[in-house]
Amino acid sequence: MAKAAEYGLGPNTYPRGWFIVAESKELDAGPMAVRFFGEDLALYRGESGKPVLLDAYCSHMGTHLTASTSAMIVKNGLQIEGDSIRCPYHGWRYNAEGDVDDIPYHDGPCPKSASIRSYPVVDNMGCVMAWYDPDGRDPDYEVPSLPEWNDPRWVQWELDHLGELNIHPQEILDNMADVRHLGPTHGAPSEYFENELIDHICIQRQGGPMQLYDTYLYTTTWYTGPGLLLSKQIFAGNTMYELIANTPVDDGVSKAWHGVLFCGSEDVATAEDREAGKAAQAGALEAFGADFNIWANKRPALKIMQLKTDGPFRTIRKWYSQFYAAAGDVAAIRDEVNGVHHTQQMATPSDAGHNIDAGLPF
Ligand code: FES
Ligand SMILES: [Fe+2]
Repeated sequence: MAKAAEYGLGPNTYPRGWFIVAESKELDAGPMAVRFFGEDLALYRGESGKPVLLDAYCSHMGTHLTASTSAMIVKNGLQIEGDSIRCPYHGWRYNAEGDVDDIPYHDGPCPKSASIRSYPVVDNMGCVMAWYDPDGRDPDYEVPSLPEWNDPRWVQWELDHLGELNIHPQEILDNMADVRHLGPTHGAPSEYFENELIDHICIQRQGGPMQLYDTYLYTTTWYTGPGLLLSKQIFAGNTMYELIANTPVDDGVSKAWHGVLFCGSEDVATAEDREAGKAAQAGALEAFGADFNIWANKRPALKIMQLKTDGPFRTIRKWYSQFYAAAGDVAAIRDEVNGVHHTQQMATPSDAGHNIDAGLPF
């Protein structure tokens, strides 16, 4: 396991961006104690349905707001009031902004210094997504969202929870440049390949024969920020979107999720479409599992011995570093890396006559 500083990322330890912190349905079961970005966090759903993410510890005496299952206020289902939450120890109430707005045994104004940090959170495509910025600045790009998610023709994902992996997300992001692993690792060597970088978006376009499906697979894959990968994939008359999400837990430890949104055959997906969607998600997970197995057993690639005919690892690592950079340095990094990047001895999508970008947000 290696840390952000060892990869030369920085000065921040955790990247700025939108990240998955839970699957939406998990939160419906009650408040959750979670840990991301090196912080213990309290995640709950308010009575309005709004998800709320706060720093975990009460200012009064340091109690974790959502870790108690045995306090009476929790057992009696009285911890959530509106979109606020009461600490299970003495009942101080925190609103969704993290301010204390009621202390049950105290008449005066609540101390302003008791406020704790609140993070922007949305429900999006069956996931609870939170915006993290080490300096607490507001989101500077929109959370990615597929219009097909709400189209009844499409079979929605139920996420695979892949758990924690002792690797820095840098190693996961390297996949975007890594044309030369697609044959040996996935049995799907690219016949064409290209990367394009547009500010906070990193795109990979590729296609070729795939052993696992015994057909041709064409993909356009893109990160929106550092934590959320979506991939449009076309094979054997099927269209689907794969989601691969990574969220930093601690420096050098990542949590990951996976899902497939699958296009059915009728205006409203049939039972057979749902089965096909499940099978497609399982197949995609099997393919992704080959990466996981490599990552779980490799040593960190603090430097890559990048050949001329490798993909543009260094360029995409530079792109990724913008999320760890001081705010004033982001524009210069984008200027340096924005554009289309080709790999030597690889055909491009236009050489191959394949472009499946229609309908994508770039
Ligand atoms: S520790 Fe939270 S109210 Fe006392
Ligand atoms: Fe891979």
